[in-house]
Order: sequence, then C-alpha cells, then structure tokens
Amino acid sequence: MSEQKKFKRTLVTTALPYANGPVHIGHLAGVYVPADIYARYLRLKGQEVLLVGGSDEHGVPVTIRARKEGCTVQDVVDRYHNLIKKSFEDFGISFDVYSRTTSETHKKHASDFFKKLNDEGKFVELESEQYYDEEAKEFLTDRNIRGECPRCHAADAYGDQCEKCGSTLSPDELINPYNAVTGNKLVKRSTKHWYLPLDQYQGWLEQWILNEHKEWRSNVYGQCKSWLDTGLKPRAVTRDLNWGIPVPVEGAEGKVLYVWFDAPIGYISNTKELLPDTWETWWKDPETRMLHFIGKDNIVFHCIVFPAMLKAHGEYNLPDNVPSNEFLNLEGDKISTSRNWAVWLHEYLEQIPNKQDVLRYVLTANAPETKDNDFTWKDYQARNNNELVAIYGNFVNRATVLTHKYFEGKVPERHELTEGDKATLAEFAEVRKQVEALLDVFRFRDAQKEAMNLARIGNKYLADNEPWKLAKTDMARVETIMNICLQIAANLAIVFEPFLPFSSAKLRKMLAMGDADWNMLGSIDILPVGHAIEKPELLFDKIEDDVIDAQMKRLEDIKKANEAENYKPEPVAPEVDFETFEKVDIRVGKVLDCQKVPKADKLLQFKIDDGMGGRTIVSGIAKFYNPEDLIGKEVLFIANFAPRKLKGVESQGMILSAVDADGKLVVCGPTAEVKPGSKVS
Ligand code: 2FM
Ligand code: ZN
Repeated sequence: MSEQKKFKRTLVTTALPYANGPVHIGHLAGVYVPADIYARYLRLKGQEVLLVGGSDEHGVPVTIRARKEGCTVQDVVDRYHNLIKKSFEDFGISFDVYSRTTSETHKKHASDFFKKLNDEGKFVELESEQYYDEEAKEFLTDRNIRGECPRCHAADAYGDQCEKCGSTLSPDELINPYNAVTGNKLVKRSTKHWYLPLDQYQGWLEQWILNEHKEWRSNVYGQCKSWLDTGLKPRAVTRDLNWGIPVPVEGAEGKVLYVWFDAPIGYISNTKELLPDTWETWWKDPETRMLHFIGKDNIVFHCIVFPAMLKAHGEYNLPDNVPSNEFLNLEGDKISTSRNWAVWLHEYLEQIPNKQDVLRYVLTANAPETKDNDFTWKDYQARNNNELVAIYGNFVNRATVLTHKYFEGKVPERHELTEGDKATLAEFAEVRKQVEALLDVFRFRDAQKEAMNLARIGNKYLADNEPWKLAKTDMARVETIMNICLQIAANLAIVFEPFLPFSSAKLRKMLAMGDADWNMLGSIDILPVGHAIEKPELLFDKIEDDVIDAQMKRLEDIKKANEAENYKPEPVAPEVDFETFEKVDIRVGKVLDCQKVPKADKLLQFKIDDGMGGRTIVSGIAKFYNPEDLIGKEVLFIANFAPRKLKGVESQGMILSAVDADGKLVVCGPTAEVKPGSKVS
C-alpha cells in the first residue's frame, strides 16, 4: 500500500547493535548491507535519503560484558562503539550519522519522550514482585538470574532463556534461582514500574498492520499477526538497574528506562544530532517515508512496541516498512558471540585485507531474506572465483585490455549494428528495469543476481563475436564490438555500485567515467567516442585454497575450544572392590598387523602379540586411525573378554580406548615399552 504513495524523502534506520562486542557477518548480512544497498540505490537515483545508525549502549548485555572483563561499563561501550563504527566504515556502510545512545542529545531526547508520555497519562504504574539480592541490594533483570531449567534441567539456564534446550523462560519458572554474578540466593520483593499498555493499542495495531500493511514481508507480517492473535499485554518500560537513562519522575530513584524503550528513540536523537535544525522534516513530515532494517529477533519491538510509543507520542511518523531478515548461520551452526562462533568483521579485514566487496557480495548472494541461510568458506571461495573473478572481473579485464591493445585506450566508434548487436543491447536495456523492480521491494539477493547477469551478457557477447579474430580482417567491426563492450563495462560500474561500492569506484576510475549516475543505466553512450580510459587493473583476484583452509582451521580450533570448555566427564560408575576389578584381566599386547574389516566402516582387525602365541581382536576404531599407523604400537587389551564374532571375524579380547571430548577414540598403551603379555594392575 505505502509503495504507491508519493514520498519526497526516505529515512532508513538500521538496528542499533549492542556495544558489548564486535560486529560479525550475521549483522552485516541481516541489516547493514541491505540497508546500505538500499540507501546507495536511492542516492544514486538522486533521491533524498538519510541512513541512520548508532550503538545501543544501555541494557544488561553491556553490564555483563563489563563484569566479565573486569572494567567499567563506560570502558566497554567506548571500546566497542569505536570498533563497531570502524568496522562499518571499513565495509562501506554509508551512514549519514552513526552515533550512540550515551550521547547527551539522546539521553535528553529519550528522557523528554518518556516525560511527555508520563505527563499525558499514557503509562500505567504497577507494583510487582521481582527477584532481589538482599546482600548485593539489587533487583535483578531476567538475564542476570540463573537457575535450573524446568524443561531440560540444565543447571544454569538464564531467566529469559535456556541455552541448552532453547526454551523461552521467565525467571519465575527457574528452579532455585540465583544471582548470575554473585551466586547469591534470591528473594521476591515488591517494586514499582511504568508500563506501556499495549493492550490499549491492540485494535489500532491490528488495523494498521494486518489491514494496511499486507505488503510487508511474510515473515514480518506473520510474526506480527501471531503476537496480535495472542493478545497484547502491558509492557514494562522501566527497570531497576544502575546503568541507563534515569526515569525522569520524582520518586523513581534507582530506576532507568528499559533499553528497548530508549534504543529506538535513538533513531530520532541521532537524526537530531546530525541535523539540529531540520531533523523534524525527517520525522514529522508525512512526505517522509521511514524504513527500519532489522533482524528477526527485533520484529516485535519495531512493528508493535515502537509504533505504539510513536502513536502515544503523537507527533512522529510511523514506519512504512520493516524489511527484516531471518538469521545467517556459520558453517551450519548458529552464530554466537558467547561461543565465539562468528566471523568478526575487524578480524576478517586483518586476515583477508581489501576484500570488503567479496564479503558484501557473498552475504547478499546468500542473504537470509526469506529463511535462515548458511555462510560457508567454500561457498565464499566459489562465489569469488567463479562469479566475481570469472564472470564480472574477466569481462571487464578483456574489455579494457583489448581497448588498449587495438585502440590505444580510446573508446572506438560504433558503426552499423548487426542483428546480434541489437539483440544484446535489447537484453541489457532490460537490466535497469529488472534490478529496480527487485530493489524497490527489498529483494536484494535477486537484484544482485540480475546485475551479475549483465556481466554474463557481456561475456557472451565477446565470446560470440571474438574481436581478437576479426582484428586482422575487419577493424571497423572490432570498433563496434569494443564500443559496446566498454558501454556494458560502464553500465556494470553503475549497476553494481549499491552492492559493491569499492569495486565500482575502481572500475569508474579505470574507465575514467566521472559521476555518471543511476539514471544513465541502460545507456550505450556513457563513454563518448575518443574518450580515454586508464590502464587496466584486475577488479578481483582469485582466492587460493590456503586462505580458505586457514579460516576453516580457525573455526575448527574454536569448536574444539568450546567442546573442551563444555566438556563434562561422564559420571563415575558405582564403586567396585578389588576382587571385582581383578576379574578383568588387562594385558599389554604389541600390534603385529592391522587391517580394515571388509564391508565394515567402523572395524579394524588386529593381529596381537600377547606373549602367549598371539590372538585376533576386532575393534571399532576404523574412523579414527589408518591401520598401518598402529602396526608396531603397544596397546592394552582385556585378555579374558568372552570371544564374539564381528562381521564374521572372531574377536578374542577387547582393545582399550579413551573417549575424547569430541567422541574421538584414542587407543591406550603403556608409556614405555614392556613385554607383550604383561599384566596391568
Ligand atoms: O538486538 C539488538 O542488538 C538491539 N540492540 C537492537 C536495538 S534496535 C533499536 F531499537 F535501536
Ligand atoms: Zn533447558
């Protein structure tokens, strides 16, 4: 519906990341790259647009990080705000403003916002029983309460979620709750809070979202519908916490605004910080369109809570669309800051320098627009080598190198067009329409595919026309072909600009294109005849296996470290006395021969020197060893284990192995050589 309205300008907001850690590929794929593509696209079209961002520096996550790192909360937010801001700059996220929720402008604006609603009686004040630590003299937020999970009985579930079984919880459900930081037992104590009565906005939200915004992405619309169908309840917008914006009401000492109340107001404060005199045009003029780019865990706050706050306030515009993405996984596992399972943006650029656009390209190609998606390093390499290098880079390289070879780097004339030329031009004239149609409805993945299609068209045109063969016989024809190729290359620089800004800048420079903008897209006269281009340079480089192997190894090491950290040895078996132990006859044996058992993936067949004439033992460790590596080794085996047949082979004993944290079996043996047949006791 809103797409049909006429707007003068567009305000694009991006979720404010918590300043409790660096940003990773999930952030980039879910929010910042799509928002940046969209803002760049509108700017290239000559539209008025603002891209607004900033760090979310209140709430519990930053306080938890400060406790973990043993520093002040201010230290934490200063450090991560700067790191996050730099990462966004490095990846070309073209923010007009990137500020922070600890700025004075924001603190005042959020406080005034609350005060206005409070003065106008838009809140309800309620007393409730909350968990309290009598020794630390503090109320605890859900995240700071831990206890036994009522579902899976994990010992250390959080007050809002159990990380082991994934259940959403409330602190009241935890068995034996305790303070996650001090370990103290908790008691219930009554406390007063301010609530936004969302139930009073139910009818209005139903009308506004379910009837007036049917065009929202189905994941967003579906989540809103499910919240509305369940029925909205009042939501507390204050907390008992010593970090945050004080509640600006007498008698509210020790209470702060809930982080989800102040953070979205940050979009307004940051606009105000950038444009102190004209910010209201961006928030109050009905001809301004507002879009919130967010991840799926933020949908309820941006589609229900914040709009209800804006409605209660009464002076501000509501969002027109909330293009929310699903999640990006990493090599099949959920990205997790606490488990270090992520590709951190600042580390990526240290380890693979100058490859911002490659990551932008891969993240858009795999954007989790309609469902969760997976980032893998193999796919990253394949998309770089087979698409950016082999299609886009290769075409540009051939077009520019041949222009230098045949025409001293000057754009040649275009003579009469063949039917083939006309067909190619007709095909590429469509690209702008197709890319625009997709970008206008936030389908960035498909839009980028269409852009790459233009490079494919160029490659096919070159391959069909083979100017290098015609150069000896028909130079006029070569002139036409190369003119068309150069125009396609110039079009590529424009169409890829929202997606791959660094490569487009390089290509623009190579073609000495000046500032030809989006409106030139589709034209075959971007580069005039006789125009001199610069020296060709490679637009993209091949990524070799060693780069990818190093990244895979890094992830393997992280996985191992996590497993080791989480490893809990199995509980000890019931006690046995010495006589019982002695019933098991453990001996040392030397491996004389070892082979795979045919048609059995797991089994190895050993010939063992047991000091008593030798025996055969079959063991299920084939997944973990090359048979030849075990020959000559001394192992421990149970000599009086009842014989049994495994895949037709009689096994006369059992080889002892330790089970490592990751389930890997490691054969046990003596630490110095001993005679085969020696008893172990
Ligand atoms: O989920 C998060 O990371 C939040 N810090 C997002 C806040 S978005 C907005 F409201 F500022
Ligand atoms: Zn659980």
